[in-house]
Amino acid sequence: MRLSSANINVMVKACRKASKTLIRDFGEIENLQVSIKGPGDFVTASDKKVEKILIDELQKARPNYSILSEEVGEINNDEAFKWIIDPIDGTANFLHGIPHFAISVGLEHDKEIICGIIYDPIKDEMFVAEKGNGSYLNNQRMRVSSRSKLKDCIIFTGGPKRESKDINLALEEYKNFSSKVLVPIRKFGSASLDIAYVAAGRCDGFFQRNLNYWDIAAGIVIVKEAGGFVTDFNGENEYIKNKTILVTNAKINKEMVEVLNS
Ligand code: IPD
Ligand code: CA
Ligand code: CA
Repeated sequence: MRLSSANINVMVKACRKASKTLIRDFGEIENLQVSIKGPGDFVTASDKKVEKILIDELQKARPNYSILSEEVGEINNDEAFKWIIDPIDGTANFLHGIPHFAISVGLEHDKEIICGIIYDPIKDEMFVAEKGNGSYLNNQRMRVSSRSKLKDCIIFTGGPKRESKDINLALEEYKNFSSKVLVPIRKFGSASLDIAYVAAGRCDGFFQRNLNYWDIAAGIVIVKEAGGFVTDFNGENEYIKNKTILVTNAKINKEMVEVLNS
């Protein structure tokens, strides 16, 4: 089975095209021109190239949709539809030659994410979902895991970024979490893939503070359509406003909230 609608086809095509550049640049990583946007957050020539290809392709197919993209910011057009783009999620990995990063594109309609694609070009893994039509990994239906006890789970987290003001808080949270429950915690450096892996049942939960909308937009619909939960650290729906995100399978959300707040 495969997910195919007009918008999904547009997103898949744009991602496949942009990924060619990304793969080529990853192979030539040493030659990349790197400029520093802020400590711990590099903007590479690749980020910009990939972003341009994505935006050109998406605009060609949907000239009236608005755009929010990490490097160029807001391009306002149509009120109702908006592409939310992270051209490379996992830039630090990319720059260090670690083959774990993704292109992430979400489509928002009336403030709700209705389509999402997260594409890992190195592993050729495409996570894609559309509201009401399920979540797929390379055309195979995905489901979140069914583990119900935190002690049996693997949990992912990310950050803090070098420049982030709440570095101590984030480290405290991590320490607190791992002292409360003996559970393997992993940090792989790409929030979008972290969320996609929860959707695929590879891990059971993910939490992080202070992510940006483009880090999580595509993942929101992908994990929900796979049967997972997206909340803030309090188990509420305010993850965008509160800038804390907790993504879990359908069973461990409550236990995660308890541990994060205890
Ligand atoms: C980052 C990655 C990383 C997360 C950071 C993000 P970028 O995105 O998703 O896993 O810990 O908070 O900013 O900068 O590589 O697009
Ligand atoms: Ca990102
Ligand atoms: Ca990025």
